[in-house]
Amino acid sequence: MKIVMVGTGYVGLVSGTCFADIGHDVVCIDIDEEKIEKLTKGVIPIFEPGLDALVKNNVEAGRLTFSTSLKENMPGADAIFIAVGTPSAADGKADLQYVYAVAEEIAANLKDYTLIVDKSTVPVGTGKEVEAIIKKKYKGGFDVVSCPEFLREGSAIKDFSRSDRVVIGVRTEKAAKIMLDIFAPIKCEKVVTTVESSELIKYASNAFLATKISFINEIAHICEKSGADVEEVAHGVGLDKRIGPKFLKAGIGWGGSCFPKDVKALDQIAGSHGYDFKLLKSVIEVNQHQRQHFVDKIKKHFIDIKGKNFGVLGLAFKGNTDDIRESAAIDIIQRLVKEGAKVDCFDYEATANAKEILKDTVTYYEDPYKCVADNDAVLLVTEWPQFLELDWRQIKESLNEPVLFDGRNLLSPEKMREIGFTYYSVGQNHEEK
Ligand SMILES: NC(=O)c1ccc[n+]([C@@H]2O[C@H](COP(=O)([O-])OP(=O)(O)OC[C@H]3O[C@@H](n4cnc5c(N)ncnc54)[C@H](O)[C@@H]3O)[C@@H](O)[C@H]2O)c1
Repeated sequence: MKIVMVGTGYVGLVSGTCFADIGHDVVCIDIDEEKIEKLTKGVIPIFEPGLDALVKNNVEAGRLTFSTSLKENMPGADAIFIAVGTPSAADGKADLQYVYAVAEEIAANLKDYTLIVDKSTVPVGTGKEVEAIIKKKYKGGFDVVSCPEFLREGSAIKDFSRSDRVVIGVRTEKAAKIMLDIFAPIKCEKVVTTVESSELIKYASNAFLATKISFINEIAHICEKSGADVEEVAHGVGLDKRIGPKFLKAGIGWGGSCFPKDVKALDQIAGSHGYDFKLLKSVIEVNQHQRQHFVDKIKKHFIDIKGKNFGVLGLAFKGNTDDIRESAAIDIIQRLVKEGAKVDCFDYEATANAKEILKDTVTYYEDPYKCVADNDAVLLVTEWPQFLELDWRQIKESLNEPVLFDGRNLLSPEKMREIGFTYYSVGQNHEEK
């Protein structure tokens, strides 16, 4: 089938490439000329494990191309996927200007029956709006479908081929059939719903996952006050199959390109329908507090952090990505800098992106050991698996003071204390009254 993917960001590039890999003929479109030029030359603009090889294979096989023109690539398309950004507007609502701009462009150039598939995360009712925009200019047949994306940055390619489910929101049997054909090679449950249910499934999923993390972070506070260990508690709780072990990791809280904006947007969606989603408001508040709580722990240890030097390991919002959008690591660094601390930073992939935000308020390193050396403490704020493999004895020897704040509960407290660190993590250090 011929698929046009509009928006070649994390979602569009990964899913477009994966569609090509299962045999479809795909063209990825973006208005960012520099991005398309890079991709045409074989340069991948984002870091996503395995993506460069997959793009290369599918370009060479003639199934994947890149272009800046939607209009030129619409003729003959079976489906046009919209995968543009839906960032938060100032009031927390999803900003739909990019989705609507693509809908307008499709409306102006549509000639035959085509499936318009919304892959961007959009509030309930957006499908209807897109239909209305197209109907105004195009009188022929078309279907608008909702097909939210559930990939996780860092494991996006695996997530595509081994999805838990594919959600397809449709109004007609014809649209459902085409979508089921497109996804036929993917072996997982295909959930066919109304457009509205599908739109809400995406927000409800992200909000639930964010709630799970905020919940365990609340438990972590009780642990710190009572002497329980949140890692032990989470393990014991997660073994209950009704709950499950995932997203029960205490730490400095969730961030990234999706959870913060989607949780806020769902709260706004609820409000716009006259419902006050109290639980979600608390989930957001707990998450914000979690970051300050980490900074407060550092302040409690040092009393005054003005002029203190910290080596910070991690900038990305999570491991295995270069994405720093709403990164808790960046937020914590900004809070420390504001209080007069000096910060040295290191990340495996996210430094270039972080420089755009942090500018010259911190010093950047290309080597984790050089980053932390001669500092007053090391702060681990992104769960890169490589941090587990560092020589922590060498790090301890290179510090002014052997103090380690592990904001991701990544390391073993026993091992770190045996090495000689004063080791702080989340929900594991009993605060003496
Ligand atoms: N990143 C994720 O992990 C993830 C996961 C699931 C769902 N989503 C959702 O998918 C959507 C896309 O997210 P993303 O992270 O890929 O965003 P992104 O910002 O990485 O990419 C969006 C791309 O769309 C392009 N674009 C904007 N307007 C355009 C237009 N008129 N024509 C062509 N291209 C245009 C931009 O230039 C950009 O390259 C969002 O709604 C997001 O919430 C993201």
